[in-house]
Amino acid sequence: MSEQASASPVHIRLDGEVLVVTIDNPPVNALRQAVRAGLQEAVERLEQDAAARAMLIVGQGKAFIAGADIREFGKPPMAPFLPEVLNRMEAGGKLVVAAIHGPALGGGLEVAMATHYRLALPGAKLGLPEVNLGLLPGAGGTQRSPRLMGALPAAELMLSGKHLSAKAALAAGLVDKLAEGDDPVAAGLAYVRELLASGTQPRRTCDLEVADKAAALAALDQLAQDTAKKTRGLFSPAKIIECVKAAVQMPFAEGVKRERELFLECLNSPQRAGLVHAFFAERETAKIPEAKAAAPRHFAKLAIIGGGTMGAGITVAALDAGLSVVMIERDAESIARGRKNVEKVYDGLIAKGRMTAEAKAATMARYQPSTSYDDIKDVDLVIEAVFEDIEVKKAVFKELDRVCKPGAVLATNTSYLDIDAIAASTSRPQDVIGLHFFSPANIMKLLEIVVPAKVAPDVVVTAFELAKRMKKVPVRAGVCDGFIGNRILSVYREAANHVLEDGASPYEIDAAVREFGYPMGPFQVSDLAGGDIGWATRKRKAATRDPRARYVEIADRIAERGWYGQKTGRGWYLYPEGARVGQQDPEVLAIVDAERKKKGITPRAFTHEEIMRRYMAAMVNEGAKVLEEGIALRPLDIDVTFLFGYGFPRWRGGPMQWADMQGLPKVLADIEAFAKEDALFWQPAPLLKKLVAEGRNFASLNQRG
Ligand code: 3HC
Ligand code: NAI
Repeated sequence: MSEQASASPVHIRLDGEVLVVTIDNPPVNALRQAVRAGLQEAVERLEQDAAARAMLIVGQGKAFIAGADIREFGKPPMAPFLPEVLNRMEAGGKLVVAAIHGPALGGGLEVAMATHYRLALPGAKLGLPEVNLGLLPGAGGTQRSPRLMGALPAAELMLSGKHLSAKAALAAGLVDKLAEGDDPVAAGLAYVRELLASGTQPRRTCDLEVADKAAALAALDQLAQDTAKKTRGLFSPAKIIECVKAAVQMPFAEGVKRERELFLECLNSPQRAGLVHAFFAERETAKIPEAKAAAPRHFAKLAIIGGGTMGAGITVAALDAGLSVVMIERDAESIARGRKNVEKVYDGLIAKGRMTAEAKAATMARYQPSTSYDDIKDVDLVIEAVFEDIEVKKAVFKELDRVCKPGAVLATNTSYLDIDAIAASTSRPQDVIGLHFFSPANIMKLLEIVVPAKVAPDVVVTAFELAKRMKKVPVRAGVCDGFIGNRILSVYREAANHVLEDGASPYEIDAAVREFGYPMGPFQVSDLAGGDIGWATRKRKAATRDPRARYVEIADRIAERGWYGQKTGRGWYLYPEGARVGQQDPEVLAIVDAERKKKGITPRAFTHEEIMRRYMAAMVNEGAKVLEEGIALRPLDIDVTFLFGYGFPRWRGGPMQWADMQGLPKVLADIEAFAKEDALFWQPAPLLKKLVAEGRNFASLNQRG
């Protein structure tokens, strides 16, 4: 039979009696319109071609099919629609088989579940991750997966968004057979021929029944309750459970109808827009100008200077990435503590059964503690994490300059300090860069890569490569006080202080911020991080503070009492007997009151919405200034910084995406209204004014490339 010669991303050819259908839509075979059309054509061909006794579906390249084309969401829908194509394929009289060698996700797994038999190769990854995009499987997946796996496991798969390995998928009932190798065509053809030889007839998933319906419904009700608690503010999880209930209670055709209605509700929700923005933004931040011009330097052996909170966390992140680490501390006692800090993390994993003692020993074999700089002569990359003091850091960098081999990358983990000045303390500023990790550094995903004026492009690219090796989400930032994240944080934190002094309690502000979708409010965060840290920063900045600027002293009054938060048993909240959840403290409220009186402020009431309008307006306005100054490359870099480093609710997409969704004129109008109370603090960013005047949004600045 002739090959089909066309530009279609679906290739159809007859191999003996089997119609081989190859999805070829790089990079991940997403189901864009032309793929759906190609699949429909294949189904028609199978129906009409007497020579074809069965159909095999495979994916070209690294994926089977990674799902719907996420870029099509929010655009007018284009026929043919996947549910209809799949229903027709499933209903046909000839055998249809999927051979899965890579990701079969979302719509991709839905294609596979609508075939009659499924074969998985070792590289297969099966999942229904739509929930991560604010969606639910919308091509029959919520109806077919419970029929194959059982109601509760299917609901759990969809709620978690997790991927199953080939073996786990076999155990779960999602696939029928495993095969070796990585060639889905060869393995698939062998399987199809085996099925044909044994006279196997189509087995339609839609005809299966969910077992033990009463128990399934009870389990789903329980799951719905637990999920409501866990996924506070999220829209699609409850809808997923509703769909699974429909799969238990309704005939397939009706269940699919219900799924369609709920899918469209999710598709049209602002959460879907926020989550899809987050999906692409997270992948865009690694696209930086330097990547076009340079290749990364080689690195395998690292030095980490300082074994405190950050040094130890970064060491774990590096060891986990397979790198070797020499840790340098000031003296024997400090390095012993540094080593302990590292071991504590692995011992914690062992205690939870997530690591074996042998694995810990193998990892620690790549760790070398030392108090001598002579031991880092041959390292490829250094990360300094000593005290946040410019003189201490300059002294360390002088020492690094003296001992390190030429071409070694010299990085600092400073939170606020001037990296240009640190670079200038060496004879090789071209090798000096900022690597701003977040605490705990072995867990937090964000890595701000701070690019000083004189650094070489290949050092920047090396930093991005390190982020990739460590599975971090990198964001390129410029040098300024606090870079992207901490600089913006200090401004909206200040807005929260103003609201506090003007009448809202810290507990109301925290509640408003949680209601917005953050896991914690700013006063809870301060108690967790330690009030002494912010206090030290405020003291450091006191000399350069604009004397006309409003300064709220309440936090100083709390810190002066030694109330640093959880570690001292009280801060903004009380933590009796080491409790991790704080209780409201009337004495704190009395301090707040006294400070208001001192300034002659009559407290006024704020609704949660009023609190958040100020909090967010401050964040967005400073974000616009950060963009204007080139500290952030694009609005999406700010979004990713806040999503991965500051607990910003992912379903809102990030602060700049949030601003776009509100409408920039509304945000600017708020800033201008607040400026009537405090013109110095609320100076609208010129970029924000310009975008509003031109009728544009932040997204218009998110060019690709
Ligand atoms: N649609 C459009 N583009 C996609 C895509 C999709 N479903 N999945 C991945 N891409 C793009 C990425 O944006 C990236 O583009 P870029 O190179 O321009 O930045 C490129 O493909 C490669 O992706 P990754 O960098 O993520 O590659 P990895 O190899 O690390 O991961 C993957 C591959 C596991 C497939 C991962 O991309 C992934 O998880 N994709 C999303 C899967 C998903 O959520 N599917 C469900 C979609 S919703 C759906 O199917 C609805 C249905 O029920 C109707
Ligand atoms: P830390 O006080 O826990 O650790 C600092 C360590 O550096 C101590 O163990 C100390 O003995 C060691 N040290 C000091 N001088 C040294 C020298 N000359 N040579 C070798 N070791 C020396 O401090 P932490 O929290 O780990 O912070 C370190 C750096 O990381 C600071 O620059 C800080 O601003 C930054 N940072 C901190 C974050 C946090 O949340 N703690 C987050 C991101 C960055």
